[in-house]
Amino acid sequence: MERDQKKKFYITTPIYYPSDKLHIGHTYCTVATDAMARYKRLQGCDVMFLTGTDEHGQKIEDKAKEAGVTPQEFVDNIVTGPRGVLDLWKLMNISNDRFIRTTDDYHVSAIQKIFKKMYDNGDIYKGKYVGKYCKPCESFWTESQLVEGKCPDCGREVQDAEEEAYFFRLSKYADRVQDLLENTDFLQPRSRVNEMVNNFIKPGLEDLCVSRTSFSWGVPVDFDPGHVVYVWVDALFNYTTALGLCNDKYDDYDHYWPADYHFVGKEIVRFHSIIWPAMLMSVDLPLPKKVFGHGWLLLDGGKMSKSKGNVVDPYILAEKFGVDALRFFLMRTFPFGSDGNFSNELLIQTINVDLANDLGNLVSRTTAMVQKYFGGALPAGCKTWATPEAYDTELISLASGLRDRYEQNMEACAPHKALDEVFKVIQRANKYIDESTPWTLAKDMEANSGRLAHVLYNLLEATRICGILLSPFMPESCEKLFAQTGAAPEVQTWNSAQVWGSRQEEAAVTKGENLFPRIDMEKALEELEAARLAAAAPAQPAIELEPWGEEVAFDTFAQSDFRVVKVKACEAVKKSKKLLKFTLDDGTGTDRQILSGIAMFYKPEDLVGKSLVAIVNLPPRKMMGLDSCGMLLSAVHKENGEEKLNLIMVSDSIPAGAKLC
Ligand code: ME8
Repeated sequence: MERDQKKKFYITTPIYYPSDKLHIGHTYCTVATDAMARYKRLQGCDVMFLTGTDEHGQKIEDKAKEAGVTPQEFVDNIVTGPRGVLDLWKLMNISNDRFIRTTDDYHVSAIQKIFKKMYDNGDIYKGKYVGKYCKPCESFWTESQLVEGKCPDCGREVQDAEEEAYFFRLSKYADRVQDLLENTDFLQPRSRVNEMVNNFIKPGLEDLCVSRTSFSWGVPVDFDPGHVVYVWVDALFNYTTALGLCNDKYDDYDHYWPADYHFVGKEIVRFHSIIWPAMLMSVDLPLPKKVFGHGWLLLDGGKMSKSKGNVVDPYILAEKFGVDALRFFLMRTFPFGSDGNFSNELLIQTINVDLANDLGNLVSRTTAMVQKYFGGALPAGCKTWATPEAYDTELISLASGLRDRYEQNMEACAPHKALDEVFKVIQRANKYIDESTPWTLAKDMEANSGRLAHVLYNLLEATRICGILLSPFMPESCEKLFAQTGAAPEVQTWNSAQVWGSRQEEAAVTKGENLFPRIDMEKALEELEAARLAAAAPAQPAIELEPWGEEVAFDTFAQSDFRVVKVKACEAVKKSKKLLKFTLDDGTGTDRQILSGIAMFYKPEDLVGKSLVAIVNLPPRKMMGLDSCGMLLSAVHKENGEEKLNLIMVSDSIPAGAKLC
């Protein structure tokens, strides 16, 4: 079917702020969006799924400075570097169609055009900003919005802020936005509407400060140098620039906009349900159809955040338990609109109960029996049975109606309920095995093989339908499930999920690896704790030391004359890769020359003026035709297999020639 004939579906995640590595809370939102996008593709929609990174703002500028790199280098490392954002989405099997970075050129110039448009139409004007600013949240607040003098979003200290700035006439749109929130289903879940209207609109919506001059890491206001666009204006428009609004990079704006869904966390609902529609109204663009504000994953009752040091690393969990198990757990356990308490125990328990016991067992028992009793393929004619038992009818009707119940819940953005419906069928199918007792039927194959084949066919059908509906959540495992249970591609479709009996009766079944092995809770918890501690501890380099020397007589040692020497000049010896030539003040009034094989460790110019230690009573040696009168002392070791050398440097207050004893 041509793209234009399909129903289009455009869905987005928030674009992540790459000030730190992402944690399981970020993964939660992206997995939810991915499951929704895959579900829509399964239905046959023309899906555009966008995610990305929101890379400007003062916090990034400050962090880059702290790290001694440019802001661009800083974000590049977190976005494209090892175990960065892109790696994480790849690992988590995220099927985004597009990835936007707000530092992409096309986005930057598009934002400049959009900002100018709002300025030209009178919705952006110049004024003076006096108020409070929360640096971690990149949010401006008025005094009245603060909670006990602190940022109402994160509870942290705010700073006084006063500067010349541009303002967006948010107040002008207050009535239209209130109407949008109260009288349409734009903002989901509905419970968030009152919060927005009562806390932000009714007290009086003030104009929003949309430029800054106190830092420079942002989109420059091209008609007023020194100003950069407020990071939220820059960030929110990503949903349109990534489709091609005001740029030539893409050409999908007319096709996909307005978005069907923005999935966002609850603390940024304000930006998406008040500021974003008002800005779109200002530039006369259609509004997104829905914004869904999901809850937070909490740890010990509090929000995870890097600054609190209580983040959960999705890499550790996905590598340990499998990507699909983690994806499933996130969607199955926490009602999407509410907060939920994350714990490793809950994760392992969900894997063991739902995946290993219920789903895994159903697949392995069914395929094992088809293999054992029928050599891997059921006979033709097993689809129907003239005298069905009540439990046959019950299973078939429950599984046949599953797709509709699942769809209703997915459409209501309740993936946990959709999964609950699937698991009711899986549990019913496991019970069906106990009721139909295939092993008893198998005792007399001559009499019962027809009935036994029918029982197993029913189990394969129930499993197939569940597999289709689970595939948006666990794509790889469901592929394995289809391969093991012999469900051909044409019976893995959305339509076939509603047609009981679609499976070809004689299709081959192969008992494969266990889809979800049971996890030993105690052992896994210990290993996770060890991994957490190892990840939290700074990496210790492997140090190798020189072997210890043999004992020498004290008198022998005392014969060596160690003196402080000052470097007057130092240069590389021509044609030698190793040697540096030192001209040293040794306190005698005559310069001393020492050659030292340390050119790989120091630049000669860095050593001039340093106070070093030398043994000065060694006989002179010729090296590369030059005299070396003594030896400079260094400390040597190996770090991660690499040679390290540090010259012994002493305080500059010690005079040249001072003896070490
Ligand atoms: O807000 N549980 O970026 P961000 C659930 N750049 N969700 C969580 C979470 C948790 N513990 N912690 C974070 C931004 N999130 C902006 C978005 S969009 C135009 C700009 C969610 O990286 C959070 O709620 O701070 C938000 O939706 C998303 O992760 C990105 O957060």
